[in-house]
Amino acid sequence: SRSIRLAVIPGDGIGQEVVAQGLKVLTAVLPQDVKLETKEYDLGARRWHATGETLPDEELASLKQHDAILLGAIGDPSVPSGVLERGLLLKLRFAFDHFVNLRPSKLFPNTSTPLAGRPDIDFVVVREGTEGPYTGNGGSLRTGTPAEVATEVSLNTAYGVERVVRDAYERANARPRKKLTLVHKNNVLVYAGHMWKNIFDKVGQEYPEVTTDYLHVDAATIFFVTQPERFDVIVTDNLFGDILTDLAAAVTGGIGLAASGNINPTGEFPSMFEPVHGSAPDIAGSGKADPTATILSVALLLRHLGYAPQAARIEEAVAADLEARGEAPRSTDEIGDALAARVAG
Ligand code: IPM
Ligand code: MN
Repeated sequence: SRSIRLAVIPGDGIGQEVVAQGLKVLTAVLPQDVKLETKEYDLGARRWHATGETLPDEELASLKQHDAILLGAIGDPSVPSGVLERGLLLKLRFAFDHFVNLRPSKLFPNTSTPLAGRPDIDFVVVREGTEGPYTGNGGSLRTGTPAEVATEVSLNTAYGVERVVRDAYERANARPRKKLTLVHKNNVLVYAGHMWKNIFDKVGQEYPEVTTDYLHVDAATIFFVTQPERFDVIVTDNLFGDILTDLAAAVTGGIGLAASGNINPTGEFPSMFEPVHGSAPDIAGSGKADPTATILSVALLLRHLGYAPQAARIEEAVAADLEARGEAPRSTDEIGDALAARVAG
């Protein structure tokens, strides 16, 4: 019989609440013969305050023994900015070589977005996840003085760019429209930008059926708002992808719906699935958090592990749930219950 060994990191703020709903829907959608084993990890602000630890080596080794990781949210105002982000979230992405950060955007029905009623918004951003300005390759001289100098160097390797670009071509080739857009800023960032474009063009020769396009990132932000239907698959660097996917979420249904997968396509390490949103400390504990982004991240997790029909059931349930929802606001639990009932039924 089949089994899924799932590591769960609820994390901070609303993380706990939304992950509980994600697990509820996962349990409801899985076929009877699939055994789900979960192990919860106490990582995040509480742990850091109690022990000073962010992600000890033993925890990393233990996490590695799983088929996938479900993460809620990391970050808390009581912890200095960057400590948990770098020491936990980014450490996981780097240690498990999550070089594909997959962030799909679909315009769901009945959502209040600036683009409501626009047909055919269905694109996916393939954000590079292990390089760029995220590597911590920088420093500061004369810190805190008027003569301070700070650098934050963007690291790009041909190996790292080629593997994520190839993954994006594969994804584009498997979709009906077969279109891939590279987003960068090669009119200014001439070293990294030209390398990305050259590799993009070279790998493209292996995918003659994929139509390609290039946009500078500033121009891309305009098209995200004025012409989002022009996008199918987008490949871009770590920081541009971070910014673009918040914009994508905002224009296609809100941050409460945006799902993501930090994927290690080789299968050497467990991939990690998480909502794009953060820990939202202002509403933590109030039952107001929308668990849909986490539940859609569970769908990405299932598809990654080979449960495509179950993933589709969750996505259809979300669409139907949004279609049917009334005006009254619903609690975190109510949304989770409604979706669990739909996927089970
Ligand atoms: C995200 C977040 C993270 C990122 C932060 C919290 C490190 O914004 O997942 O998009 O920049 O990648
Ligand atoms: Mn972000």
